[in-house]
Amino acid sequence: MQSFHVSLSAIITFMSVISNRTASAIRKAAESLVAGNLVAFPTETVYGLGADACNKEAVARIYAVKGRPIYHPLIVHILSIELLDKWASDIPEYAIKLAQAFWPGPMTLVLPRKELAKDFITGGQNNVAIRVPAHWVSLALLQEFQAQGGLGVAAPSANRFGKLSSTTAAAVEMQLGKFLSDVDQILDGGASKVGVESTIINCTNALPVILRPGAVTTEMIEEVLDVELVLGSVPSKEIRTPGILASHYSPNAKIYLSGLPSPGDGFIALSDFPTPAGTIRLASPKNIDEYAQILYESLRSADSKGLKNVFVVPPHNQGVGIAINDRLLKAANQ
Ligand code: TXA
Ligand code: MG
Repeated sequence: MQSFHVSLSAIITFMSVISNRTASAIRKAAESLVAGNLVAFPTETVYGLGADACNKEAVARIYAVKGRPIYHPLIVHILSIELLDKWASDIPEYAIKLAQAFWPGPMTLVLPRKELAKDFITGGQNNVAIRVPAHWVSLALLQEFQAQGGLGVAAPSANRFGKLSSTTAAAVEMQLGKFLSDVDQILDGGASKVGVESTIINCTNALPVILRPGAVTTEMIEEVLDVELVLGSVPSKEIRTPGILASHYSPNAKIYLSGLPSPGDGFIALSDFPTPAGTIRLASPKNIDEYAQILYESLRSADSKGLKNVFVVPPHNQGVGIAINDRLLKAANQ
């Protein structure tokens, strides 16, 4: 089974000012969350834009800063599985097994909600999405937050609506800096190790269904549960996941997943693909995990280089390659 390593260094950024990497800085960030401010923080998947999940006004600011439509539900981040039944009810046995196997980690469970999960978190639906992230900064933040009475941190990916998720603090700053206020913070915990957003699993029925593919793959879930999943990311009638739109995760450059690049176009492929003449190589990941990790940063670099077109050779559609292909299709569907 894959393991998800945590970053060893964390620098605390108060807006653009880099401060220190101490426990007291993380405690202050937690105090700021309790006070109703926003804290962007690293997770192993992508950076999140966090607010106290019980504070309606703070959560409203997430939507304003992201420019995200109000009916899109949010993932509640918790410190550990013990807190799950504060937020969710009727938790099936298989969901407990998944939580035990993959938390902390890149997996989000959608479960029937409890009273604590208000409409401003769930978009008015009767279910709530929960995740325990695997990054020591997010866990330290959640621990401090809980020590101060907090129960969960609502956090979407820290990007403007429809744009690429941020996998570094600098990317958060670039996208959201001008929308954050002086009391908000960005915690810097290095580049996210996984690089694509968590696997979202609908756990409101007799069998789990993957709503968004991620680094916890179909095979990993099947192995733990000893069942065969319904394949593909199946849009569900009773569950609304509006973030899973056909067009999403978009850089400014146009993305092509087939065809021939011209000189001056960007090019991304696994390292064993040669660079077509005259194109600008944006990334050469050595394997599929590295492909996921560098995907958003390399697409972002196309924008900072002012490229109009980027040709991408997608990886095989297996394992985390399914999540990469999913995001690439959406990025290409501008
Ligand atoms: O890896 C991740 O999941 C990151 C990090 C920060 O944890 N978060 C993230 O959040 O990607 P966001 O909001 O960008 O994407 C979450 C997706 C959205 O498509 C949303 O519609 C869906 O999860 N979602 C949230 N709550 C839901 C719910 N109760 N039922 C169904 N879908 C839900
Ligand atoms: Mg997002």
